[in-house]
Amino acid sequence: MNDAAFTLLKPELENASGTALWIADENLLNQISLANPEVTVITNRFDLCQQLNDADWQATFSDFDFSGYSEHSVDKMLYRISKEKPVVHHVINQAIRILKPGGHLCISGLKNEGIKTYLDKAKKLFAGNIEMVKADKNTWMGILSSPGQADTDLLEDQSYTELREIETDGNFSYISKPGIYGWNKIDKGSAYLIEELKRFLDRLPTPPESILDLGCGYGYLSLNCSTLGAKITATDNNAAALRLCKENLEQQGVEADVIAADCAEGIHKQFPLIVCNPPFHQGFSVDGDMTDRFLNAARRRLQANGIACFVVNLHIPLERKALNLFGSIETIAANGSFKLVLLAQPH
Ligand SMILES: C[S@@+](CC[C@H](N)C(=O)[O-])C[C@H]1O[C@@H](n2cnc3c(N)ncnc32)[C@H](O)[C@@H]1O
Repeated sequence: MNDAAFTLLKPELENASGTALWIADENLLNQISLANPEVTVITNRFDLCQQLNDADWQATFSDFDFSGYSEHSVDKMLYRISKEKPVVHHVINQAIRILKPGGHLCISGLKNEGIKTYLDKAKKLFAGNIEMVKADKNTWMGILSSPGQADTDLLEDQSYTELREIETDGNFSYISKPGIYGWNKIDKGSAYLIEELKRFLDRLPTPPESILDLGCGYGYLSLNCSTLGAKITATDNNAAALRLCKENLEQQGVEADVIAADCAEGIHKQFPLIVCNPPFHQGFSVDGDMTDRFLNAARRRLQANGIACFVVNLHIPLERKALNLFGSIETIAANGSFKLVLLAQPH
């Protein structure tokens, strides 16, 4: 389905010239338009980066890292807003730094995503230099011209680029940053999986020699599984998650492979143990299809005698979705919010 906010941005993207940057995130998956060779794309999603490069865009994969662009060096930036406020504020703040005076920042989004508030704030930062374009009452774009220097404070981006300790439990302290979903806490489902890990491990004939953490985030499951002494492979699609997972593992002296991949595609090894807390949201939408893709990835990467441990919200019909993929499907525990599902005998 076409994204109305991106449709509004498209003509600007097609006309862009000079030094032009398109900041693209998960909302734009499967939305790609004809490549403009003048534009460099910065995306924090590995799957989108691959799609863009396949479609002849010049795409780079990073956690919206603009450090390679010096002050006042860019003519135009294009951005369909992201789900998380710190990301949006980070991009707007960086635009003030790197745009040439008179350079343009085009931002589009929907009203229920907060585009009006973002444009109001950006307008202040850009000294009132804004032209508004509305596709309809819900779909807005602002074209802001840079005054060169901001006269007001930058937007609150929660120190977007900084890594910081967010929590400590009896086992580890965890480093995180904005830019991944639920970045500032331990996920309750993942904590439940680790609490009950022994119940899963009892099903393996021997301790696992290797473990795959599928959708690793900042590395909570990887870190907690590292005490088992197995070689850890952690994979995710999100640039911030990969950076953080690497950092957390390194800080604890854990040697691991941390791999950028879309649902483990491109990872060819098979593992006796897979741990996974699959994503539920994709961009602004809730996407049941992601559960299917994670189940398929677990089936492909699981050794014949291995087990995959999934934790999901109680209402997700994981057992039904897994029916054609695994010979053995067992809900081994549940609390008021989550269930732990053990999958074995991959077909
Ligand atoms: C619910 S979080 C779990 C994070 C982490 N394992 C934890 O326990 O805190 C799901 C993770 O899946 C990742 N993810 C989403 N789509 C993905 C994809 N297509 N391929 C790989 N990982 C993906 C997200 O970036 C996120 O880190």
